[in-house]
Amino acid sequence: MLHIYKNIEELNTGLANWITELISKTLEVKEHFTLVLSGGSTPKKLYETLASEPYREKIKWERLIIFWGDERMVPFDDEQNNARMAYKALLEKVSIPEKQIHKMWTDVPPEKSAEHYNKILQQYFESKSTFFDLVLLGMGDDGHTLSLFPDSEILTDDTSWVRAINTKKGERITLMPFPVNNSGVVVFLITGTAKAKVLKEVIEGHNNSYPAQLIKPVNGELHWFTDAEAATYLSH
Ligand code: 6PG
Repeated sequence: MLHIYKNIEELNTGLANWITELISKTLEVKEHFTLVLSGGSTPKKLYETLASEPYREKIKWERLIIFWGDERMVPFDDEQNNARMAYKALLEKVSIPEKQIHKMWTDVPPEKSAEHYNKILQQYFESKSTFFDLVLLGMGDDGHTLSLFPDSEILTDDTSWVRAINTKKGERITLMPFPVNNSGVVVFLITGTAKAKVLKEVIEGHNNSYPAQLIKPVNGELHWFTDAEAATYLSH
């Protein structure tokens, strides 16, 4: 489903309301809400919005469990670190118990970090039919998502949950399509004219060669939250 907003401010408010509602509805029937945060720069404003009123008051933060979609293998205090961005914008400002926040390790070799994260996911989801309640994703102007870049040799892996991968943008740890496609709700948050052309091809094209097109929830929902600029070429 496509949700197009006039500008970034209205998009972030609209998505913050939508997420608040989803969390509230889910927590009526579940003890915890499992949320995957996206990296990159686009979601920073959304995280800051969620850390502000009225969302900070409305969301039952202590019942959230936080994961990441991917991580750059740089130290936590490096400004390129996705977890660092989320802490500064949101997690330092709300009360989620530390044991419920699962950062991807960046101070061990990539393969060890991927193995560790896989174990974390197994603890939560091994015996479950559905992974996360909500997965937030971004997309690059080359159609990459998570740390799944075009022409990567791991794109054909449709069984792994987490992989370490050396990409053109450096060493990464990334969720793979399998857990995302077996989650409850997946949201792409995409803004700006630079992504407009690829967004049209990803959503409306039949090319099926972009990594973002690997995200096809089996039973869950797929939502695209964009501003008018990114939606320029969409036939909506
Ligand atoms: C990352 C992200 C990546 C991101 C896109 C878009 O670690 O970089 O997970 O998939 O979502 O690259 O990034 P921007 O939001 O900065 O355009």
